[in-house]
Amino acid sequence: MELSVYLNGKFVPQSEAKVSVFDHGLLYGDGVFEGIRAYGGRIFKLERHIDRLYTSAKAIDLTIPHTKEAFAGIIKETCRKNGIRDGYIRPIVTRGVGDLGIDPRKCKDGATVVVIAQRGISLYGDAYERGLKVVTASVRRIPPDSLSPSIKSLNYLNNILGRIEANRVGADEALLLDAQGFVAEATADNFFIIKDNVMMTPYSSTSLPGITRETALELAPKVGVTAVERPFTLYEVWAADEAFITGTAAEIGPVVEVDGRTIGDGRPGKITKKLIKAFRDLVTATGTPIG
Ligand SMILES: Cc1ncc(COP(=O)(O)O)c(C=O)c1O
Repeated sequence: MELSVYLNGKFVPQSEAKVSVFDHGLLYGDGVFEGIRAYGGRIFKLERHIDRLYTSAKAIDLTIPHTKEAFAGIIKETCRKNGIRDGYIRPIVTRGVGDLGIDPRKCKDGATVVVIAQRGISLYGDAYERGLKVVTASVRRIPPDSLSPSIKSLNYLNNILGRIEANRVGADEALLLDAQGFVAEATADNFFIIKDNVMMTPYSSTSLPGITRETALELAPKVGVTAVERPFTLYEVWAADEAFITGTAAEIGPVVEVDGRTIGDGRPGKITKKLIKAFRDLVTATGTPIG
């Protein structure tokens, strides 16, 4: 059955959910988006995702033509229209339709607003049982003084270039370093290592401030580790006891190999497994009811 997609104030069938070729989201990647997940009829950390969407929009000086409360309502309504209890939700806000030329002032009619909600999502299939293989990409994460990685914008080419490198060598994910050579994040996920019961992830100045990342940091005491945010190098990754990625779509994914080096004993780590369980308990017990 076709999905019902929210598009600029209306719900339309998936096959009719189309935007203009003059939309600046398409022409220039001028827009922002979110990836949100629903578990058992509840939307996990909906307010945090809406806050990040609005902060991303603010950073690119884009006005979203709804209050945050109204936007939350649209998201819930899109889920209800599609009978979503467990699923993935993708709000997108572009600069809108305008003439050719990057100037945002050309988009006189305001933003294009889209919300897609679909059932289920499995990013890495059975790879979680064996653990993920990651390679370091040659391309660096865009520095925050060029285009802040904290903005969840429609401009994902930097990440896609990394993804292509992973695909070429049959890896599950690629790791991007920052301009100084410290680990930044994976192409669509944040990155963590664990060494001697300390869980580490880089500051979010060179990565997206991931909501799953934030959740993993909150859950650290529950699984008996100390959590710190600090820069670290590839050397520390290769020498780690455990490693994992976090993301709304990926959830918490154990990493067992980086650049051909085995992490720990080459199997998903004990603490990572505890964290996956704690995460699952949290996402199924909390969240905004879809209604
Ligand atoms: C570049 C990047 N980093 C990290 C993440 C993880 O963020 P979150 O946990 O909020 O989904 C994502 C996912 O959207 C991403 O695209």
